[in-house]
Amino acid sequence: MASLFEQRMAVVEQIALEKKASGRAVDDPVREAEMMERRCSALKQKRLKKYYAAFLRSAIEVSKEYQTDIIDGAKMPGCNITIQRGALTSAAKLLETSGSRVMIVTDSGVPAQYPSKVEASLKTAGCKVHMVTIPQGEASKSLESYATIMQALVDGGFTRTDTVVAVGGGVVGDLAGFVAATFMRGIRFCNIPTTMLSQVDSSVGGKTAIDFGGVKNIVGAFHMPARVLIDPDTLATLPERQLHNGLVEAIKMGATGDAELFELIENSGDLLSDAGEIIRRSVNYKQAVVKADPREKGLRRVLNFGHTVGHAIEALGGGKYLHGEAVALGMMYFCGAEASQRIGRVLAKYNLPVSHDIAPESIRSLIAHDKKASGGNITVVKVDEIGSYRFEKVNIQDLAL
Ligand SMILES: NC(=O)c1ccc[n+]([C@@H]2O[C@H](COP(=O)([O-])OP(=O)(O)OC[C@H]3O[C@@H](n4cnc5c(N)ncnc54)[C@H](O)[C@@H]3O)[C@@H](O)[C@H]2O)c1
Repeated sequence: MASLFEQRMAVVEQIALEKKASGRAVDDPVREAEMMERRCSALKQKRLKKYYAAFLRSAIEVSKEYQTDIIDGAKMPGCNITIQRGALTSAAKLLETSGSRVMIVTDSGVPAQYPSKVEASLKTAGCKVHMVTIPQGEASKSLESYATIMQALVDGGFTRTDTVVAVGGGVVGDLAGFVAATFMRGIRFCNIPTTMLSQVDSSVGGKTAIDFGGVKNIVGAFHMPARVLIDPDTLATLPERQLHNGLVEAIKMGATGDAELFELIENSGDLLSDAGEIIRRSVNYKQAVVKADPREKGLRRVLNFGHTVGHAIEALGGGKYLHGEAVALGMMYFCGAEASQRIGRVLAKYNLPVSHDIAPESIRSLIAHDKKASGGNITVVKVDEIGSYRFEKVNIQDLAL
């Protein structure tokens, strides 16, 4: 059976490559229906027809998933990710936006050359391009910035068939994604992340949000990007502190589920040249987790390794720690001896903090305040050995900090 299956999938691979070369879509409902009808009519036992049809249907779906995987490396339908150095100049082709209206959303800290390259590529492909530049920083994940972009969409005559493209870090991605999720009940969103954090983490998974009433990410929606375009070359202009801050999320993913990714970061002599592989492995890992648990009902919580305490340290630090730096500190409390040593060493290598002076009591009471609905208990992610994790329920007051 296994060998027959492999033979069949080799043919499917051939079909995928032919479709890629000729630009034909993976989905072809008319041909699929014809083929089902032809095959079913060859059955002698007519009462088996509906079972045979169901069997063929599931085989077709498996084949199409494999074809999609081969054609663009995407593991998750509806969220195609391209990782390619120098890709910004081919943005129009890779985002498949030709001819439509496009709203580029960027911020004042993103080097202007990046949105300009995207804009030039889109214009050459015949798109009508508009651009909104919001002030850099977390404060822009606000109702005010949301309203600014919405107004620009209305003024520009945008419709359901048009596209919003984010060019920037997690702030721009979360904000522009939320705009796209809600404008006319949802329009196409593409993300071009330009920070380490957004390339390894926030551009994957479809979470969009703005902050409100002093609470981070309290207003938001799940809205999968149609395309994500990652150009690791954009990291060359990122300040080192931001580069290492984003790397924490990749360290987290390596520690919980991809020991080879962790080793790559551990042994890297040049982060920028290893960035492509670090991003690829991180994206694959996050995609697999998100695919298994798109709405964060269970498994996706593994991505919170270090985050419960990290969020508290970030808030109590009053701006002293960036998000990744606070998560780095948070991870240290939830690992076994071997993992603790290796994680500690890798954090120190990238000048990330491994100790802080915030009172444990303040951290516990902030967590208790945030999690008041769950009766004093929280589920934390623990790493005993690099590349594996387990969930553990603990009482907040018993957290060993
Ligand atoms: N949606 C998710 O799943 C998810 C996950 C994690 C974090 N986030 C969100 O991501 C945000 C943080 O993202 P971030 O760390 O990318 O911060 P950011 O977007 O604020 O970017 C950091 C700084 O780098 C600048 N910048 C961006 N690209 C640059 C480049 N190539 N060269 C030089 N400077 C550049 C920006 O202007 C900004 O000043 C937070 O709001 C957080 O809530 C979202």
